[in-house]
Amino acid sequence: MAYTVSKLTDYSAAALERASAELLSALGDEAAAVKNEADWKGFRDRWMARKDGVLTQINERWLKNAPKEVKRDAGRQVNLIKEQVEQKVDQLKNIEIEEDVNALDHGPEAIGRVDISLPGARRPIGAEHPVIKTTNEMVRVFQKLGYSVAEGPVVETDYYNFEALNFPPNHPARDTQDTLFIAGQQGKPQRERLLLRTHTSPVQIRTMEKMRPPIRIVIPGTVHRNDPPDASHSPMFHQIEGLAVDTNITFGDLKGTLDHAMKEFFGSSVKTSFRPSFFPFTEPSAEMFVSCFICGGSGRRGSDPCRPCKQTGWIEILGCGMVDPNVFEFVKDNGYDPKKVSGFAFGMGADRIALLKYGVDDIQLFFQGDVRFLGQWA
Ligand code: PHE
Repeated sequence: MAYTVSKLTDYSAAALERASAELLSALGDEAAAVKNEADWKGFRDRWMARKDGVLTQINERWLKNAPKEVKRDAGRQVNLIKEQVEQKVDQLKNIEIEEDVNALDHGPEAIGRVDISLPGARRPIGAEHPVIKTTNEMVRVFQKLGYSVAEGPVVETDYYNFEALNFPPNHPARDTQDTLFIAGQQGKPQRERLLLRTHTSPVQIRTMEKMRPPIRIVIPGTVHRNDPPDASHSPMFHQIEGLAVDTNITFGDLKGTLDHAMKEFFGSSVKTSFRPSFFPFTEPSAEMFVSCFICGGSGRRGSDPCRPCKQTGWIEILGCGMVDPNVFEFVKDNGYDPKKVSGFAFGMGADRIALLKYGVDDIQLFFQGDVRFLGQWA
């Protein structure tokens, strides 16, 4: 006869003991009868099912109606039983799994158990972000020329972002930078006030403070400007800056270096063109264009106008120039006497180059984190 949980009326220690012994003996007998997976499931459910399992029943029939003064002892007894039941169920399950592995049983019976012959869960490893990929490729071009990588903070002081780069306080050239300022800085002297760097050029000064000339550095990093987001603007974007300082560096070195770098990056058939411009920290200053690598410089794609170069055959890639002697004055004590050294600097937008290179028509796609977009670079 199968064991059934009796209703307890006598709550004496001896009666509790007797009822427990009867239950545990039934547990032992039924456990011994478990021979396979199906048996084990039935055994588990009979003893542990929330609804009407033996454990649930002893809660109902033994504990619930126990008089106050014996509730503690009865509770302890029931907990001991619970432990034993759980232990038995667990124990038999382990035996089953060992048998299962040996038998390589993959039938429906195996569901819910570990099947070590199945392939593992695949975790996609991701892909390099197109802007980072572009940055790394460009940085590599300069590393091959002997440039080292330098970096600096994104939260910068007014001194490094502006003053030491020859933007005097209140000079209108500062307005061109659409600066995002950190709040609560009014109590500090102007040069110590914090802002989000608007370009990677502050790292020119920071590096020249640390390293004596000659130097050749390339500086990748994020910058911020108060531009509302649209297809070609983002308040956060990426720049790649370069600086070379030595004795007798000329504008010819600037042109030769950048022309070589563009041919390395875009392909040997691109041409470069330099047009006069203005930056407070370079003199003279220039904008550099490369011949359109999409239409080959013709301004047309078949019978259609070439949109990326606006039919001009040229694409603006960067700003550059010879380091202004006023900039060297700020780091003169570290060997940068403007009478003895000269240098050139350049800065380009990595996002813009990635847009052009990959034919992406909206910069926002780079920063929305949509894996359907980013997965294309996997
Ligand atoms: N910092 C300039 C900008 O963000 C670019 C630049 C860098 C120009 C170095 C000249 C030299 O617009």
